[in-house]
Amino acid sequence: MSKKKNSNQMKEPHNQLFPTEKVKSLSLMATGVAHDFNNLLAAVLGNISIILRNIPADSPLVKNATQIETTARKALDLTNQLQIYTGKGEFKIEKLYVNEMINDILPGLKKSIRPGIDIQCAVHNDIPMINGDLSCIRQVITNLVSNAADAIIKEKGTITILTGTMQSDQIHRDEECLDEIPHGNNYVYVEIKDTGCGMTSDVQAMIFDPFFTTKIRGRGLGLSVVLGILRAHGGNITINSEPGKGSTFKVMFPAAET
Ligand SMILES: Nc1ncnc2c1ncn2[C@@H]1O[C@H](COP(=O)(O)OP(=O)(O)OP(=O)(O)O)[C@@H](O)[C@H]1O
Ligand SMILES: [Mg+2]
Repeated sequence: MSKKKNSNQMKEPHNQLFPTEKVKSLSLMATGVAHDFNNLLAAVLGNISIILRNIPADSPLVKNATQIETTARKALDLTNQLQIYTGKGEFKIEKLYVNEMINDILPGLKKSIRPGIDIQCAVHNDIPMINGDLSCIRQVITNLVSNAADAIIKEKGTITILTGTMQSDQIHRDEECLDEIPHGNNYVYVEIKDTGCGMTSDVQAMIFDPFFTTKIRGRGLGLSVVLGILRAHGGNITINSEPGKGSTFKVMFPAAET
């Protein structure tokens, strides 16, 4: 989606790839599913806790009841992720430094990826703070790094994390964002670049759809959650990807006023 792409990269304007109508109807469906399933799961969990409290601790049914509880909690986690996609998650907004946050999570990220993949990080000093929910912003970076690592199917590869600042005018000139960027803002960006398999434009058109995955064990929720978090923070995203040539995801957050 970046305007800096060369001619054989995605040519379609982003509104064809991510039509507003499609996003609206998917959000509507996700809101409905998340809301109804939350109610159903609340009933399941409420009843299971009554059962667990009332059966003898040595009953063979404890195991079955506990399994039902664990499964219902996993389903609840899924509906919570869907709620984040629809922008209805709960956010605790504070002023935070993206660089500091990245430095904090970097050791964990390095541990989570397989040997052969190198993570390089070059944070730009002097970037302003943003208003954000710390755990959500961490989740954005973690989900993007995890996708980058999954995309590296060759034995060796590199993930590069960069941070910096951009004026909205510069973004208008150089980037093609998923959503409109209001004029006059300063943005802090985090760029995650991989040397992985890249994506066709057909895949790119679907990546933010809840449950879209090309992976055997994927849930297809990582980028839906990223999108929901970005939208809840007034943020944005650009993608630059080509099959066989890797991908770059750049997420942007409005800088906090000082
Ligand atoms: N860096 C990347 N390189 C290549 N393809 C990517 C990249 N990031 C995302 N994708 C594509 O987008 C799809 C959707 O990504 P998303 O994170 O939403 O779900 P997932 O990774 O498949 O599953 P989950 O994150 O829920 O475990 C992926 O299955 C993959 O096809
Ligand atoms: Mg993912």
